Amino acid sequence: MPASKKIVLITGVSRGLGRAMAEEFIRLGHVVLGCGRSEKEIAQLRKQFPAPNDFAVVDVADDSQVAAWAKRVLKSHGAPDLLLNNAALINRNAPLWKVPAPEFSDVIDVNIKGVANVIRHFVPAMIQRSRGVIVNFSSGWGRSTDAEVAPYCATKWAIEGLTQALAQELPPGLAAVPLNPGIINTAMLQSCFAGGASNYPAADEWAKIAVPFLLKINHSNNGEQLTVPIRGSFD
Ligand SMILES: NC(=O)c1ccc[n+]([C@@H]2O[C@H](COP(=O)([O-])OP(=O)(O)OC[C@H]3O[C@@H](n4cnc5c(N)ncnc54)[C@H](OP(=O)(O)O)[C@@H]3O)[C@@H](O)[C@H]2O)c1
Repeated sequence: MPASKKIVLITGVSRGLGRAMAEEFIRLGHVVLGCGRSEKEIAQLRKQFPAPNDFAVVDVADDSQVAAWAKRVLKSHGAPDLLLNNAALINRNAPLWKVPAPEFSDVIDVNIKGVANVIRHFVPAMIQRSRGVIVNFSSGWGRSTDAEVAPYCATKWAIEGLTQALAQELPPGLAAVPLNPGIINTAMLQSCFAGGASNYPAADEWAKIAVPFLLKINHSNNGEQLTVPIRGSFD
């Protein structure tokens, strides 16, 4: 059991970085409240990591689903100590003018509006308790750009701006930071890097470094642009 057991809220726990972080936080004795859209994976997480951990089928792009999720878990667990806005989508590689309108909207809805939805329904409880850390997952592509991922870049640059503004709004005791996780071999990376993804660390290997790094973020980091210190990370 860690010296101080934290309540960690993670969006997008069904695979990739979210899943690897959930497993590592729980291994270290913390409590994870997670969500994702995939029912099968969420059911499997519930079985593998029972209460006090809590896994729910929630689409973060749907404000009413996030509201209902927040109402339930805030009642059972109180405000999270660490809120990780990790869930995101990437467009299929294509020049901007070839990205269909519905696909562009989906990326915006999850990566920007989804983050705002989670902040809308969880941060008031964190403010009431006068402490807590909000980490919004950005990307190297939130600080630089590449061809064929313009919608994704647009959302991650938005996350950097949204988070800096949020940091200016929070009362003392809280912090909001944009985080570049580095480059990790997940389904998302395989989508945009294809075969090149296998040159990068696996999510569980990354989580061994990322989770202790996340646990050290505190109110004095408010507004800082952070990067997980792994091989392949870049600013
Ligand atoms: N991997 C990298 O190298 C890399 C680099 C830079 C930044 N990032 C960022 O790191 C975060 C995690 O990326 P990843 O590589 O782990 O991606 P991933 O493997 O594609 O996993 C994304 C997760 O988000 C969930 N998700 C997507 N849409 C959702 C929605 N509407 N509601 C709830 N959950 C949703 C997915 O679950 P469901 O499909 O079940 O909903 C999945 O669990 C993202 O913010 C990404 O932009 C990753």
